[in-house]
Amino acid sequence: TFTPRVFSGIQPSGGLTLGNYLGALKRFVEKQDEGGETIYCLVDMHAITVWQDPTKLRHQTREMAAGFIAAGIDPARSILFNQSQVTAHVELAWIFNCVARMGWMGRMTQWKDKAGKNSENASLGLFAYPALMAADILAYKATHVPVGEDQKQHLELTRDIAAKFNNDYGVTFFPMTEPVIEGAATRVMSLRDGSKKMSKSDPSDQSRINLTDDADSIAAKIRKAKTDPEPLPDTLDGLKDRPEARNLVNIYAALAGMSAADVVKEYAGAQFGSFKPKLAELAVAKLSPITTEMNRLMQDPAEIDRILGRGAAQAEAIARPIINEVYDIVGM
Ligand code: ADP
Ligand code: NA
Repeated sequence: TFTPRVFSGIQPSGGLTLGNYLGALKRFVEKQDEGGETIYCLVDMHAITVWQDPTKLRHQTREMAAGFIAAGIDPARSILFNQSQVTAHVELAWIFNCVARMGWMGRMTQWKDKAGKNSENASLGLFAYPALMAADILAYKATHVPVGEDQKQHLELTRDIAAKFNNDYGVTFFPMTEPVIEGAATRVMSLRDGSKKMSKSDPSDQSRINLTDDADSIAAKIRKAKTDPEPLPDTLDGLKDRPEARNLVNIYAALAGMSAADVVKEYAGAQFGSFKPKLAELAVAKLSPITTEMNRLMQDPAEIDRILGRGAAQAEAIARPIINEVYDIVGM
């Protein structure tokens, strides 16, 4: 019988943002609570594709683990671990580096965005990033990957790599993994620029809400968020060319568990001067219990390390036989 296996990850290259929470982490918890097999990874090997201060990386990895648990990931029901502790990821990534084509990688929009005009100076790891991501997923033969919209192209590439591996070696080995891109906020935008996604690696802290922010800074960031002078329209159509306004509505909807259409219905005609405090209140109500729990967990870093260590052993037990089969298929 077919059992869905869910895998996903987040880079500990900074703290968790509201974008990570709504687009990814909240979905991870839902998938866990639906009762499927769920495997979640702090992808530190991805984080170092851009230089990370070692002390900060170690801290951010623990803090992110605390954030996952505080948000509802239960280490008794999900496997939670750190990518660098399970070597299957980099082993399979090398094989996929030899399967994937340069041209495929060169077409990735995240590569183009992150490397920019100075691609000669970007790390080789940043270029190869999607092959490591494919390995993260396929080392477990995961069938479903909950992600934000920005990862859609990388998931398509994962399927291309799986298909080419299967074809090159004449096997039906890797599954065609399905992206799961769901919810009212699959692409949360920067609070300062409606054309950029909210990201932990954005140099401006004002552009994002962090899960570690206190109530006052959440309220201040939302109050200062860029909008236009128009009130909220009667229907979603009225937000078509208003990306900043649409973003705040999407955030409200995702936090409240409503559709964006229902939020607009409820606030039709309201000015952002009155909508923003409502949004801030909602954001604080939803996020502050997570922040509090995260801070509590961070007081015992040794316990976090124990949880990650147990998770790594569980992950290893699933991935190792799969990697051994891959070596056998390849002739090693
Ligand atoms: P970041 O850009 O913050 O470093 P990651 O690359 O670590 O994020 O992505 C981790 C997960 O969070 C991915 O599933 C990604 O799609 C999701 N995600 C990141 N930013 C956003 C966003 N602004 N809105 C929705 N989902 C997001
Ligand atoms: Na990213």
